[in-house]
Amino acid sequence: MSSSSKEPLKVGIAGLGTVGVGVIKIMETHNAMLTARGGRTIEISAVSARDRGRERGVDLAPYAWCDNPVELASRDDVDLIIELIGGSDGPAYALAKETLSRGKSFVTANKALIACHGKELAGLAEASGASLRYEAAVAGGIPVIKALAEGLVGNDVSGLYGILNGTCNYILTRMEREGLDFAEVLEDAQRLGYAEADPTFDIDGIDTAHKTAILAALAFGTAPDMDNLPTEGIRNIAPVDIDYAKELGYRIKLLGVARRTDDGIETRVHPAMVSLSAPLAKVMDAINAVVINGDFVGQTVYEGAGAGEGPTASSVVADIIDIARGNTYAPLGIPVSDLQELPAIPAEKHLGTYYIRLRVEDRPGVMADITSVLAEKNVSIKSMLQRGKCDDGGVYIVLTTHETVEACIAKTLNHFTNLECVLETPTMLRIEA
Ligand code: NDP
Ligand code: HSE
Repeated sequence: MSSSSKEPLKVGIAGLGTVGVGVIKIMETHNAMLTARGGRTIEISAVSARDRGRERGVDLAPYAWCDNPVELASRDDVDLIIELIGGSDGPAYALAKETLSRGKSFVTANKALIACHGKELAGLAEASGASLRYEAAVAGGIPVIKALAEGLVGNDVSGLYGILNGTCNYILTRMEREGLDFAEVLEDAQRLGYAEADPTFDIDGIDTAHKTAILAALAFGTAPDMDNLPTEGIRNIAPVDIDYAKELGYRIKLLGVARRTDDGIETRVHPAMVSLSAPLAKVMDAINAVVINGDFVGQTVYEGAGAGEGPTASSVVADIIDIARGNTYAPLGIPVSDLQELPAIPAEKHLGTYYIRLRVEDRPGVMADITSVLAEKNVSIKSMLQRGKCDDGGVYIVLTTHETVEACIAKTLNHFTNLECVLETPTMLRIEA
């Protein structure tokens, strides 16, 4: 059947910011190509945003306007909603429920929505026969959802980890390259359209946690779980740690990690020291990368632009085309009724190696105090450095450990904090790859 003889797919777009405008641009630029690839014409019928008068760099005159995005779902000229507003609740959540309950399909770039309500929304989609797709929600332009849900479907995935936040990777890159301070770089990330509406979601690791929860769900056949995902961001990364990382042969990256073992699932988000020779250490600026380990395929690595107008819109359009083609499957990879409930492994049980930086008094006996705490807590030192005077007094002692259970490291840090010779709260970073 030719594409012209099929019913057009009529789309409503809610949210006309960075990503929404990007989607309109792709749909206008590649109209004929998308019709051929989707097997039917794809038409934008209606749009919604907060401010109708705002100049957006695209002509909205051909499309109907809705002040209330939820009204898009009930329009007869809309078969598919593209939600690009953001936020786990509020209008995005209301629109998702309304759309899927009506049996209309729903595409979103909203990781907060899927991480927090993925199971419920997948259930609604399955009940009504609608499609729910969210490729753009994780790693921007990289088709990593497709990789897990389709390309790697023949594998048992044992684990994955990745750089999943463009804003943080961009900030860490520029802090290292240009010695700029955190706040200055964050403003640039916002100007470039990488950051969330509330950038604390980026820098405090919450955005990475949303994405990690989604990837873990698809990888392990579970529901996204935000309740068991210890999360730390990059707010406390100091230039001195970036410098020490380099000296020790590492680079600091914000990672999302998900692993399955016989005991259950371990998910976590934190800045980590990544070996300069590892693939993720070379991933700079707003680029994201995900490493996935499957039992038959081995290790696969996916890399590309993780944020911004074009890359994110590219993934949204891929979902639209899948729906136009009728390529559908259970939103979480397997039906909601088949999702497994696997135990969450607590962070304290994590076995790893660690970087610890202490600012201490520069006097005899201090090193002995430090090493006696390490000995008492059974933490074995791999390397240790002491540098000259710090600007704010004292000296830095920097050490890396052999493999240790995280609970032991927590107790050690606590003990360090209580030593008289330790002048500020110790810094700890996990060494990951
Ligand atoms: P923006 O802040 O640029 O745009 C949000 C849009 O939603 C704006 O058009 C805004 O309207 C509209 N909006 C906000 N509140 C309402 C409301 N109550 N009713 C109707 N419209 C509303 O966000 P982005 O485009 O950056 O992000 C959109 C989604 O894509 C988010 O879920 C984000 O997490 C996700 N995402 C973003 C990426 C990026 O690089 N930017 C990458 C991957 C995912 P108005 O313009 O009138 O203010
Ligand atoms: N704020 C997000 C980031 C957008 O910086 O990665 C892409 O999800």
